[in-house]
Amino acid sequence: MNSFDERMRHNYAGRAEIFERTFGKLCAYPVPTVLDAVGVAAGTRLLDVGCGTGSVAAAARDRGAAVTAVDPEQSMVEIASRRVPEATVLAGELPRLPFEDDAFDAVVANFVLNHVGDPLAALGELRRVLRPHGRLGLTIWPQPPTPLHGLWPRVFEAAGVDANANVARLAADKDFERTEAGLAGLLADAKFVEVETRTVPWKHRVDPELWWSGPAAGLASFGQVLAAQTPETVARIKREYDRLSAEFRVATGELALPTAALLAVAVAP
Ligand SMILES: C[S@@+](CC[C@H](N)C(=O)[O-])C[C@H]1O[C@@H](n2cnc3c(N)ncnc32)[C@H](O)[C@@H]1O
Repeated sequence: MNSFDERMRHNYAGRAEIFERTFGKLCAYPVPTVLDAVGVAAGTRLLDVGCGTGSVAAAARDRGAAVTAVDPEQSMVEIASRRVPEATVLAGELPRLPFEDDAFDAVVANFVLNHVGDPLAALGELRRVLRPHGRLGLTIWPQPPTPLHGLWPRVFEAAGVDANANVARLAADKDFERTEAGLAGLLADAKFVEVETRTVPWKHRVDPELWWSGPAAGLASFGQVLAAQTPETVARIKREYDRLSAEFRVATGELALPTAALLAVAVAP
């Protein structure tokens, strides 16, 4: 584990419940697309890595797959276990998983590779636990940021807060371009074959106060920025959030935040 891993772990520590109500709903959008892309069906031995509160595991269980799920954060493991009692849910983390070689027909890592300190080593581990010709499906957030992700830096800047001071950065020699080509290149470097990447766009609809409540509870990188501020500064940031998020408001009063995932599907040799 390097310092990036430690910072990322801290972002979720004890926060599974708020994750499930906020970012978990965002992360759930591409799940059916990813499961289709890796061909999850009845009997598939599926590993859901970085399972969070179990969106992938639950959807795969509904397809009749034999699901194993793993996450380093205990509060995530507890919620995923309750939500998907048919699955084997364990504590574990990349880049070293508690499974034999060739144990799974398919592996899904939904918005997890962006949380590990050594993405290439993590992919090598996912290839190890996949059987020959098994399929990997993964998503990450693209760069440059979508309007959804770009909202927070805009809010901090408008409030005069240096967000970079509290955001974890991957070591330059471990990083890769968060584009279709950059992700495809990393998978090829990790010796996956038949690599395909594409962008999956959507609009995330969410109540503005609910969307604020995740970072306000310290969740994810932007939550860590908020957690480092005084109450007066947080109040100023909230005013800027209310002002800038209003441009995404639709008739229901919700925000409709344009976003996208980079989706990769690849095959173990
Ligand atoms: C953005 S959440 C996504 C959760 C879930 N996959 C979903 O789609 O809702 C990222 C998850 O990755 C987990 N995670 C962080 N570092 C990890 C690592 N090194 N190995 C495996 N999972 C990790 C976090 O605990 C968190 O549950």
